[in-house]
Amino acid sequence: MSAKSKNRPVRKAVFPVAGLGTRFLPATKSVPKEMLTIVDMPVIQYAVNEAREAGIEHFVFVTGRNKAVIEDHFDVQPELRQTLRARDKSDMLDLLANSQPEAGRTSFTRQQDPLGLGHAVWCARDIVGDEPFALLLPDMVMQSDKGGCLASLMQVYNQTGGNVIAVEECAPEEVSSYGIVELGKTVGSGFEITDMVEKPKVGEAPSNLYINGRYILQPEIFALLENQKTGAGGEIQLTDAMLRLANDQPFFGFTFEGDTFDCGSKEGFIAANVSFALRREDTGPIVRKIIEDMLDR
Ligand code: UTP
Repeated sequence: MSAKSKNRPVRKAVFPVAGLGTRFLPATKSVPKEMLTIVDMPVIQYAVNEAREAGIEHFVFVTGRNKAVIEDHFDVQPELRQTLRARDKSDMLDLLANSQPEAGRTSFTRQQDPLGLGHAVWCARDIVGDEPFALLLPDMVMQSDKGGCLASLMQVYNQTGGNVIAVEECAPEEVSSYGIVELGKTVGSGFEITDMVEKPKVGEAPSNLYINGRYILQPEIFALLENQKTGAGGEIQLTDAMLRLANDQPFFGFTFEGDTFDCGSKEGFIAANVSFALRREDTGPIVRKIIEDMLDR
């Protein structure tokens, strides 16, 4: 790994949003799963906010068929703006303005066939170009008192360079659902990753630290994804290409201290809604009461 790549800033973030969301049918037949809401904000907005907080300047969305509404979400809505202005709803106007990246700071490209996460990332190659980039899987929604996961990942990257992946502890019996990393020595506030295993059998995992959906990757990943053979589930897997990249470049891990909700699953999505609603000042007290009343019945 050259010192050059170690110091290169991470300006762009990729959001793969072309998956079919089959675990959430029938809701996702015509509504992208990234547009389902947690309290009153679509899932994709949580990831974009996290990236903005981390200093990302350009937002690259890899979309698919029936996902055009995601592009509309990050555009202005003149009629709505006019109505809110006429009704003196300045707080709502501010909210809408703040949820949108600056003009010219978004790009949308299409993954015509959902061939897997690795293929979706590869579809962003021309827009990202020859620079390190952040990758956020929007389904994985994070909550922490210690700031955003990507912001913490950026801090580790500034110390280590290379490729950096956020990981999180899971129960030992859950390792077979995730990509699991093997820990090497501590480096700054992160650690070296010496191996990665996709969905290991319980008892055979090198740790109980799973890859939770936030990455900083070097652009050399694109050349490897280009000729990456299909892996688990018949899909082009990002982890397989990362393992090949690890032959030439270092990978580091950072343990995220917070909660990650897999909003691509029903239980994760419901848990996220309950957790975010309970923590918010406007909804917390009433939602707590509703849940307590329900449990007392
Ligand atoms: P998932 O496996 O969670 O998404 O991919 P999925 O395929 O939509 O889910 P199910 O199993 O059918 O319910 C993780 C992320 O990668 C994106 C998804 O949109 C999600 O953000 N993805 C996955 C793509 O963009 N393209 C793909 O071909 C596969």
